[in-house]
Amino acid sequence: MTVTIVGAGYVGLVAAACFAEAGTRVCCVERDPGRLQRLLDGEIPLHEPGLQSLVARNLARGSLRFTADMASAVIGASVVFLAVGTPCGADGSADTTDLLAAARQVGAALTGPAILVTKSTAPVGTHRLIAAVVEAVTDHRVVVVSNPEFLREGHAVSDFLRPERVVIGCTDPQAVRALRALYAPFSPRAIHVMDPASAELAKYAANAMLAARVAMINELAALCEVQGADISSVVEVVGSDSRIGSAFLQPSAGYGGSCLPKDVLALALMGRRAGLRLHLAAATHEANEAHRQRWLQRIRARLADQHEAGLAGCTVAVWGLAFKDGTDDLRHSSVVALVEDLLAHEVTIRAHDPLALEVARAELGDQVSWCTDPLQAIRGADALVIGTEWPGYAAIQIPVLADHLRPGATVFDGRNLLCPDQFADTGLGYLSIGRPDRLPASAERERVCPACS
Ligand SMILES: NC(=O)c1ccc[n+]([C@@H]2O[C@H](COP(=O)([O-])OP(=O)(O)OC[C@H]3O[C@@H](n4cnc5c(N)ncnc54)[C@H](O)[C@@H]3O)[C@@H](O)[C@H]2O)c1
Repeated sequence: MTVTIVGAGYVGLVAAACFAEAGTRVCCVERDPGRLQRLLDGEIPLHEPGLQSLVARNLARGSLRFTADMASAVIGASVVFLAVGTPCGADGSADTTDLLAAARQVGAALTGPAILVTKSTAPVGTHRLIAAVVEAVTDHRVVVVSNPEFLREGHAVSDFLRPERVVIGCTDPQAVRALRALYAPFSPRAIHVMDPASAELAKYAANAMLAARVAMINELAALCEVQGADISSVVEVVGSDSRIGSAFLQPSAGYGGSCLPKDVLALALMGRRAGLRLHLAAATHEANEAHRQRWLQRIRARLADQHEAGLAGCTVAVWGLAFKDGTDDLRHSSVVALVEDLLAHEVTIRAHDPLALEVARAELGDQVSWCTDPLQAIRGADALVIGTEWPGYAAIQIPVLADHLRPGATVFDGRNLLCPDQFADTGLGYLSIGRPDRLPASAERERVCPACS
């Protein structure tokens, strides 16, 4: 079978490489000239474990190719996947402009009947819009399928090669058979066949459930901070309930990334447009935003306490800018928003990230000092913000932190990566999510009895 994939981003490039690896001939269309050139030069424009070798092997054996030319890409293709972005529009809805434009280009280039499969996350009813757009530009029979993608960045290749589930939103038996055949080499644990609208909604439902868990545990973490409880103990109990489970219960400075924030907002808006208020989707978004702000306020307040002259002139080291470990993706990263805020308060920022440094430098420029060594970033700094749960950061010993940071400095652990008890007698302060603060002895005295100071 010959397949065309439109879009060589996290989803499109991974899908293209994995289908090619499974023996399908794949042509991947990319409109961004810089990204395309890197791919043609054998470079991978994004980080995903295992992707480089998969792409190289399949390019070499001719089962994968890249082009900007839609017309040549769809010749002979019986299945065309759309894997372009559906970013957050100005009103919070999913912006399907690129998706519909890509569908139109495919339709105009078709030389025969085809199955047009949407991998992009798109609002319920998008399959009908795509069908209409395509019908307007071609006389060939086109079956539109919704096949939402569930891969996780940082695990994208292994998720694609061994999928937990494949969703085929399609009522045409022949198209369903073709999609089943394409995915058969990956032996998905389950293939769910349904109508396209349900498939479209299932993707939003999954992301909204995940986001709601994170927002809920973070809200409980905030309550722990106020009440003197410890969220780790709460999670231990809640997560051990087999009806709840422990996944996605890790307290953090808030969820980010290219999917959860935009998909939760888009779901809320989808409801509003259908005349329904989706209370939980809207509240999940609000709770996450409030939580991100609260963490920023705690950091600002502690820095202002610590530094007599206020925030301006403080030096803050930041470890991790990616929205989670295992990826170089900065989209909607709460750490990037935090860095931008501190920069606006004239804080000096020194940042490290094992993978995302290049992407971060392109986004934030020279206003940040970029460090290739995490210890270089913290040398003499007033504070350290841990933004991403890279395992390498957890492996650094607390005495090493104390040796490098300025005496009395504070560690703000936005991922609860370190253990609060290890900060006793280090002279460092330690603030994390939902666990009691550990402040250096002098600062504790000031808090307990301001009259004595
Ligand atoms: N990133 C994820 O982890 C993930 C997971 C599941 C689903 N999704 C969904 O998949 C979709 C794609 O996400 P992504 O992260 O891969 O996006 P991305 O921005 O990384 O990649 C999209 C690519 O499509 C290209 N493109 C856009 N229009 C094109 C056109 N007409 N012709 C050729 N190329 C075109 C862009 O240049 C870009 O390289 C989104 O709807 C997203 O919500 C993403």
